Amino acid sequence: MYQNLQTQNIDNIADFIDLRSDTVTKPDAQLREVMAAADVGDDVYGDDPNVNALQAEMAEKLGKEAGLFLPSSTQSNLVAMLTHNARGDEILVGRKYHIFKYEAGGAAVLGGLTYDPLPVRDDGSLNPEDIHAAIKPDDSHFPINTTLVLENTNSGQAISMERTMAAVEAGRAHNLNVHLDGARMFNACVKLGVDAPTMAAPFDSINICLSKGLGAPVGAVLVGSKDFIHKAKRWRKMLGGGMRQAGIIAAAGRFALHNYVDDLADDHRRAKALADALNETGRYDVIYQDNQTNMLFVHLDKDRAKKLGAHMRDHKIIVSAGTESRIVLHRNIDDNQLDQIISAFKSFNG
Ligand SMILES: Cc1ncc(COP(=O)(O)O)c(C=O)c1O
Repeated sequence: MYQNLQTQNIDNIADFIDLRSDTVTKPDAQLREVMAAADVGDDVYGDDPNVNALQAEMAEKLGKEAGLFLPSSTQSNLVAMLTHNARGDEILVGRKYHIFKYEAGGAAVLGGLTYDPLPVRDDGSLNPEDIHAAIKPDDSHFPINTTLVLENTNSGQAISMERTMAAVEAGRAHNLNVHLDGARMFNACVKLGVDAPTMAAPFDSINICLSKGLGAPVGAVLVGSKDFIHKAKRWRKMLGGGMRQAGIIAAAGRFALHNYVDDLADDHRRAKALADALNETGRYDVIYQDNQTNMLFVHLDKDRAKKLGAHMRDHKIIVSAGTESRIVLHRNIDDNQLDQIISAFKSFNG
């Protein structure tokens, strides 16, 4: 089911508890201080100290050779696809994954690439059998399979190393490049207790988002080999992603990377507490699986969803109310606000 994800045009957004996404997190006082004090240079010339440091630190944290700072995860994933593939190549990707479903077909539009969207299992992983079966023979009727894309977390679900390795090995059996859309990879690391280099090791490239649960205002980092990042930099330039005094935002990303990763566990704890509270009412069809991190989902019929959206708004809470309402906990929601959210759900009689 596709839902309209456009803005809800909310006045006085600051007065609301916003459960639509972890992308809504606003930079806190510490991040604003770091940004105000940041040294900057011109990153297109390669001399912005904070951008250079962020790229090196992210690469080191993930055990990769190099990193590239980009304005968004969408552009980071697109740059990865353009770097790994040539016109006419085909990408194997989960049908529910962001690169296929929510990035406006960018790799097709701008790169002449096609996708073969594969079924996604209940835990968010791909089945190795589906990967093997999707490989096209070397025959002029077919596109060439070059890249496999995985996503972790997917819909807030942390995918185990075992399932990850099984999918990667299937891709490697056909000499595919393997990219991880790890926009929320640190959520997966925290949930599974797996360190970042271990999680990153099987992949050629990984996208990490700074502006979701980590709370920085803007930006993503793509990591990979030196050679891959060298090529990726040209694509970033072509797409207009070369930013000049970008150190102001990179400084926030660095601070978040060094100080806020462990806090993701609080978002996970609150998501579970909310799921438990909703289940206890016996009035909500809640989807919250064991491997869930900071998200839960509530299934409602259309009419009830609309009423819930209005009820929550009356309680100064915004949810993406639909037949499958996604509820996302993040660092701008504390335990008191969680209590407010729980009582608003409890007082809904629709
Ligand atoms: C898994 C995943 N990848 C990539 C993106 C793209 O991020 P952005 O919209 O900031 O470009 C998102 C956005 O929510 C996402 O959830």
